[in-house]
This record gives sequence, structure tokens and C-alpha cells, in this order.
Amino acid sequence: MAEKTLDDLFLDTLKDIYFAEKQILKALPKMARAAQSPDGKAAFLKHKDETEGQIERLQQVFDIVGKAARGKTCEAIQGIIAEGEEIMEEYKGSVALDAGLISSAQAVEHYEIARYGTLKSWAEQLGYTDAVALLDANLQEEIATDEILTQLGEASANPKGAKKKVA
Ligand SMILES: [Fe+2]
Ligand SMILES: [Fe+2]
Repeated sequence: MAEKTLDDLFLDTLKDIYFAEKQILKALPKMARAAQSPDGKAAFLKHKDETEGQIERLQQVFDIVGKAARGKTCEAIQGIIAEGEEIMEEYKGSVALDAGLISSAQAVEHYEIARYGTLKSWAEQLGYTDAVALLDANLQEEIATDEILTQLGEASANPKGAKKKVA
């Protein structure tokens, strides 16, 4: 068996995030439906649209490296999404629901930020210059989404969740 290279690792990780993005694409409309605040709903739907574009960029990256776009099961994202679904069930109708949804969504964003940061750095090392720009575009969208979620958490969902505790 040939020795594994950074190219192999890059491709495996690309497949991982490709799988993850497709799972996220399915999860976001559910989160939008579950969210109580209109701002939360809007943020999840906006990021769903962005995610469609991110998947297309990943397909372009597969093209650049000359491989077929194919996902590889990512247990990490399945676990993070499963936890989000658990919160939707357990906190349904509660004042803390949106805070829980935002926290799940931020766990997703942080996973994506970690993956895209790594992939971008490896693409630089491997000389896939065009892929660097595409991966950076996805990375920047994830960072911006994370910041929006932080603001939403601070501005609306979290204080509402906290109020009940004081009352
Ligand atoms: Fe994404
Ligand atoms: Fe994201």
C-alpha cells in the first residue's frame, strides 16, 4: 500500500466537510422552523442559502484537484446535529429554546471554521491556489455567521432564557 500523503489527507478532509455541509443544509430549515425569534429564523434561512453556495464551491475544489465530488461520513457533524435535535425536542416551547438552537448552530460553525482553516492552509502548502480562494470564501461566511449568532444570542435569545430563571 502506498504511503499516505498530505494530498490524501486534503482529499479526505474535503470529503468530510462536503458530507458535513450536506447534512447542515438539511438541518438548517428544521432549525429555522423551530426558532421562535424572527431574527433567528431569518439567520438560519440566510445561512441555508449560503450553504448551497458553499457546496458549489466545494464541488469546484474537487474539480481543481481532479477528483469526483464525494462525501465521506463525518461522525463529528452527525453528533453535533443530533445534539441540536435533542435540544429542539427537550426545550420545545420553552423560553430557553432559541438560546439552545443558537448554541448548537455555533458548535456547527466552529466545526466548519476549524475544517476550512485547515483545508485552506493545506491548499496553500499543496499549491492549489484557486482552491485557497474558494475555501477562504467559505471560511469567511462561517466566521460571519458565527458572529451573527453571537449577537443574536446576546441580544435576544439568551436574555429571554435567563429572565425566566430570575422571575
Ligand atoms: Fe457551511
Ligand atoms: Fe456554517
